[in-house]
Amino acid sequence: MSALDLVVIGSGVSGLSAAVRAASAHRLRVGVITKGQLHQTTTRWAQGGVAAVLGGTDDPDSTDLHLADTLSAGAGLCDLDAVRVLVDEGPVRVSDLIAMGAIFDRDHEGDYLKAREGGHSEARILHARGDATGAEIERALVVAVHDTAASLVEHAFADSLLMENGRCVGVRYQDTDGTMHEMEAANVLLAAGGAGQLYSVTTNPVEATGDGIAMALAAGAALGDVEFVQFHPTALHHEAMPRPLLSEALRGHGALLRDTNRERFVEELEPRDVVSRAMMRTMIEQEVDHLWLDATELEDFAVRFPTIHRSLELVGLNATTDLLPIAPAAHYTCGGVITDLRGATTLPGLWAAGEVACSGVHGANRLASNSLLEGMVFGPRAVDAIAAGGDGPEATGAMRTVLTPDDARVAGRRLDPPSAPQWGSVDTDPAELRRRVQSAMTRGAGVLRDAASLAETGQVLDDLAGRVPAMDSDPAWLEIRNLITLGRAVVAAAANRKESRGAHTRDDFPGSSDDWMLRQVMASA
Ligand code: SIN
Repeated sequence: MSALDLVVIGSGVSGLSAAVRAASAHRLRVGVITKGQLHQTTTRWAQGGVAAVLGGTDDPDSTDLHLADTLSAGAGLCDLDAVRVLVDEGPVRVSDLIAMGAIFDRDHEGDYLKAREGGHSEARILHARGDATGAEIERALVVAVHDTAASLVEHAFADSLLMENGRCVGVRYQDTDGTMHEMEAANVLLAAGGAGQLYSVTTNPVEATGDGIAMALAAGAALGDVEFVQFHPTALHHEAMPRPLLSEALRGHGALLRDTNRERFVEELEPRDVVSRAMMRTMIEQEVDHLWLDATELEDFAVRFPTIHRSLELVGLNATTDLLPIAPAAHYTCGGVITDLRGATTLPGLWAAGEVACSGVHGANRLASNSLLEGMVFGPRAVDAIAAGGDGPEATGAMRTVLTPDDARVAGRRLDPPSAPQWGSVDTDPAELRRRVQSAMTRGAGVLRDAASLAETGQVLDDLAGRVPAMDSDPAWLEIRNLITLGRAVVAAAANRKESRGAHTRDDFPGSSDDWMLRQVMASA
């Protein structure tokens, strides 16, 4: 008998909302392990908010419109059923969070304030403390999980999944002393976030090294959509890392994008992939490394966007008088571990939710402010399925591309994972190795790619693997191994997809092709 019913790996919105629901609604014995402190997650950095249609009289918005915007941003690769679940269940999960103590911003009449962001046809983004939505959600969830979970382990580096006869039965992790531990559970929920650290310039914290995706791949789980890495167009061009984000909500409030001649060059509220691409092309053409965000006309900037105001002050900028230097930064891993509509992966006992997962809701490009929503919807769904006795994947959602790959709702094509990297033994500085991985990925597998750049990146990653000690279990080296493993997967999937779609832009295949209206499934035969 396992001591725990569920162990959750990761403490962002998907992990903690799952853990709280498992313990409070289903009385499951839950353990949470996380790499840093509980609150130290990508969720905490999310500014813009949560896209959810709460309804109400005179509201022109509807879940159908939210669904249509999500599908359109996803450029043909979203799973319709998964998006339907997202937009329909989202408002209920927002209410759960409010009941848990999360406070969203309201106007003087008590109605929720709603912002607009790129790709949204209506203003439907709820926010908290102006531009600190993720921090507020994380705050409420951390309080709730302390009250409910049976076991919380911080500073635990998850090393591998425990597998028994093809079933996931727990996780192996090391503590800060380097001592290895095993946490066994009847079910494991991966909620370990994405891999923005694959790139030199990212809005993600240093912890975002794709450990969950790499661990699942090593255990034999199928991955999907890994070629789609979303770049946020408006990260502050500054040496701080992670790059301070200048929320898309600024453009929703009327901020403009300007080139070196102070001219506008793209419609500001296009989806992120469109804006990032236009920025990269403009930067190349004008031979500059950044462009400008003009927020000088926005009223009450410091009140509405206090977090951004403070981060600008720190670098001596004032949004009401200065143009703000910006450049795209790696922001979101659209693909990940393939799941069905309940969060089940291809491995019995292993579930996944949030950025680590490929649930089918984002397709080739995530719609702004759908990520917190995905976490709070699909984390609890996995828990409800576990409590109902669910086990193993069903042919629903993105999982159809594995179990019924010819299903017209989004067909799947199998792609072998890259062969295992040849780790070496050269004892180089891990920080330097990480920089080199990031630099190779940024040069050759970033916003713009082509066959030659991808081939070169793959070669550099292979060479760098040879400098990484195979056996060293220091977390700094484990992270590099995860980054290289995932980087090679991104490069292989991007090289194979001979078209441009969503966040994947091939200079040598600039158009989209109907032949590629499918999800690439990376799985061992
Ligand atoms: C933003 O505020 O621009 C980021 C929100 C998101 O990534 O969805």
